[in-house]
Amino acid sequence: MPIRPSLRHSPQLIGLSALVYLALSFRGAQKSNSQQYVPPLGSKSDDRIERSTRIIAVGDLHGDIGNAQKVLEMARVVDSDGNWSGEVDVFVQTGDIIDRGDDTIVLFDWMEDLRSQAQGAGGRVLSHLGNHEWMNTIGDWRYVHASEIKTFGGVAARQDMLSTGRIGRAWAANYTTTSRLPLHPSLGDPNDDFPPSADSAAVRLPAPLSHAAYSFVHGGLASSYPGLSPFPSAINDLGRSLLHKLQHRVQPPPHPPHAYPHLPPSTTREEHALLEADGPLWYRGWALDDEAKVCRAVDPVLEKTGTRRMIMGHTPNFEKIVSRCNGKIIIIDTGISHAYGGALSALSVEYTLKLVSSSEKRWREREVVKALYVDHSVTLVDEERDVFGDM
Ligand SMILES: *[C@@H]1O[C@H](CO)[C@@H](O)[C@H](O)[C@H]1NC(C)=O
Ligand SMILES: *[C@@H]1O[C@H](CO)[C@@H](O)[C@H](O)[C@H]1NC(C)=O
Repeated sequence: MPIRPSLRHSPQLIGLSALVYLALSFRGAQKSNSQQYVPPLGSKSDDRIERSTRIIAVGDLHGDIGNAQKVLEMARVVDSDGNWSGEVDVFVQTGDIIDRGDDTIVLFDWMEDLRSQAQGAGGRVLSHLGNHEWMNTIGDWRYVHASEIKTFGGVAARQDMLSTGRIGRAWAANYTTTSRLPLHPSLGDPNDDFPPSADSAAVRLPAPLSHAAYSFVHGGLASSYPGLSPFPSAINDLGRSLLHKLQHRVQPPPHPPHAYPHLPPSTTREEHALLEADGPLWYRGWALDDEAKVCRAVDPVLEKTGTRRMIMGHTPNFEKIVSRCNGKIIIIDTGISHAYGGALSALSVEYTLKLVSSSEKRWREREVVKALYVDHSVTLVDEERDVFGDM
């Protein structure tokens, strides 16, 4: 339900209304010249009074570069050459790039190209490890095609590449298990912890603005998972240490045909919990449990993680992106890979924050969240609310 703020007590808006009136009157007077350009409201981008952020998030890609390119081009993350377009501020991928297809190497190399190009253009790429990336580092290769192993030049070369080689190093350096993305720079950088540290500017921001952030993860952040706070570092620190142990052990012969290679003996209980059924890589409760149950359970998790919505992949719906509890839970795995033949989709978020009254430090924020498909889009959330603070 959109929250419509009261328009009273707002000199700026009265001023704007007058402008709208003038613009409309002007338009009326120019009827004979329908080409006359009238700038749309809010199109004048003065950085001091208006901020906007455009985010695109994409779910499981499973070894299909062709469909991945179609999706990123459709969402205007990349141009027709597959290069960073500069039209998006943040591109997020929620894991499971590997398995079920042959394009592992080109996909991970492309992600690193986009990351550098984004950085050069003031943008950002946030990448996540899915349960399938973890399975591969463990040596569980049940979903690896023989034809894909050939693209590496054999089992040993693939093990090298995913552990201490180019792809493994990219995972260690540039992928996390989860992330927290503030919608506005005053709220901190991507993956700054919530609750914020005492010396951070974000610590002074009252709710709801302090929660103007989204979480991204492959499976889900279960309310029963014990390591949610501080978010996201509690999870990501465990992910980093476990990945290091897996990548730097003597690589076990892959399963199958060999026996399942368990986690290393040095794995801690907390690291183990990452990969359990209610851990962030495998959890499916937000996708599968009944509506009343998930909508009761979601608020405490959002509160604890300092977020407004949780975005995840992992549990596919082949027709559409699924939004639950008024968009507090959004599941973006639509089986994009030809391995599934599901819908080509991307999640789009447009966030704007406009100064309404500087004396009251009152701002109006608007969040428009859409599911994008090849030939149509669906608005999942369109909310406005007034927020107060120094930005
Ligand atoms: C795309 O990127 C590649 C590699 O960075 C570059 O060689 C190429 O010129 C780029 N294409 C465009 C259209 O910018
Ligand atoms: C991680 O990303 C940065 C760009 O942000 C890039 O320069 C670096 O090479 C990447 N690291 C690896 C190991 O791929």
